Amino acid sequence: MQTFAFRALLSAAILTSCSSSPPPQPHKSATRKQAFGKTAAGQGVDLYTLSNGAGMEVSITTYGGIVTSIKVPDRTGNSADVVLGFDSLDGYLKEHPYFGAMIGRYGNRVGKGLFTLNGVEYKLARNNGENHLHGGLVGFDKVVWKAGGAESLELSYTSKDGEEGYPGNLDVKVTYSLTTDNALRIDYFATTDKETVVNLTNHSYFNLAGHGEGDVLGHEVTVQADRFTPVDSGLIPTGELRPVEGTPFDFRQARRIGERIEQKDEQLIRGKGYDHNFVLNNQGGTLALAARVKEPRTGRVMEVHTTEPGLQFYTGNFLDGSITGKGGKRYDQRYGFCMETQHYPDSPNKPSFPPVVLKAGEQYKTTTIYKFSVE
Ligand code: GLA
Repeated sequence: MQTFAFRALLSAAILTSCSSSPPPQPHKSATRKQAFGKTAAGQGVDLYTLSNGAGMEVSITTYGGIVTSIKVPDRTGNSADVVLGFDSLDGYLKEHPYFGAMIGRYGNRVGKGLFTLNGVEYKLARNNGENHLHGGLVGFDKVVWKAGGAESLELSYTSKDGEEGYPGNLDVKVTYSLTTDNALRIDYFATTDKETVVNLTNHSYFNLAGHGEGDVLGHEVTVQADRFTPVDSGLIPTGELRPVEGTPFDFRQARRIGERIEQKDEQLIRGKGYDHNFVLNNQGGTLALAARVKEPRTGRVMEVHTTEPGLQFYTGNFLDGSITGKGGKRYDQRYGFCMETQHYPDSPNKPSFPPVVLKAGEQYKTTTIYKFSVE
């Protein structure tokens, strides 16, 4: 898909490099496609790179819909790749903690891998102790997606009735668009032929200083949430919506990630740090600011906007230096943080949580935007 827009951008770049006048900013998004290897089963995988002509570039592979890189400038104009990942497909084919991945059919945990819909009990794959996590053994992060689209990248996948234990054939489409104001917009769509549960998200690990550039404890985080969902020892929500007031989960004003992370708080101990769902104040299903993160040294800022009611804030607690990522960088504990926009974990078993049921004939649609700037 070497689009016309890309060729136009290329010729604009060649033209401007020959003249001495200030280069016009080609504010048009362009898409480049390259082969990225093959799965063990021999399926071809591609890598698409979107660039916006305004300094931002994002690469996404058709394997798992994984965002493999996000390059954005810092306050002095220096570009860095701010997400953890691997240089080649091989890294992603091995066991890894969902770097950059598209997550589904149900993002996060379903307690004991069980839920009941219309009186029928469904047994999901258990891949996290006794629980189901991030879609199971072969979730949406481990399948090859079909690519399409022109200015945006459109990935689609049909998840078969019974896959990982879920009912209904689910048609999923995810679009990745890059806007000229340095935002990556992800739109998720799904339809089913039989009642099912759906909760789609992206599992990018961010480090706004650049991937591999130390831990994220100095990042300053604000989350638009007055409450969060405390968890049991298996990280399944208890059902309580607990006020953040007076707890290390109060990010209503900007706080450094590392400021309270080692407190002897039962919830922090259970998560080995932050690994919790925040109940966003905007519950209206409209696009609203969910979180803002600033890395003071480089001045990079990321805002997360979403239509979703929840945000899983995970501070890379399970990273342990055993993974070598892009450019030979080692990813140690807390070298990245995730902001997984979502419905709350274990919602299929929590009638008081916002519903995650999708009926035949209904359209699932959510949007999340990661917007970058400097300060
Ligand atoms: C999510 C979970 C974490 C962990 C990571 C992957 O964020 O909530 O507990 O499983 O994915 O390691």
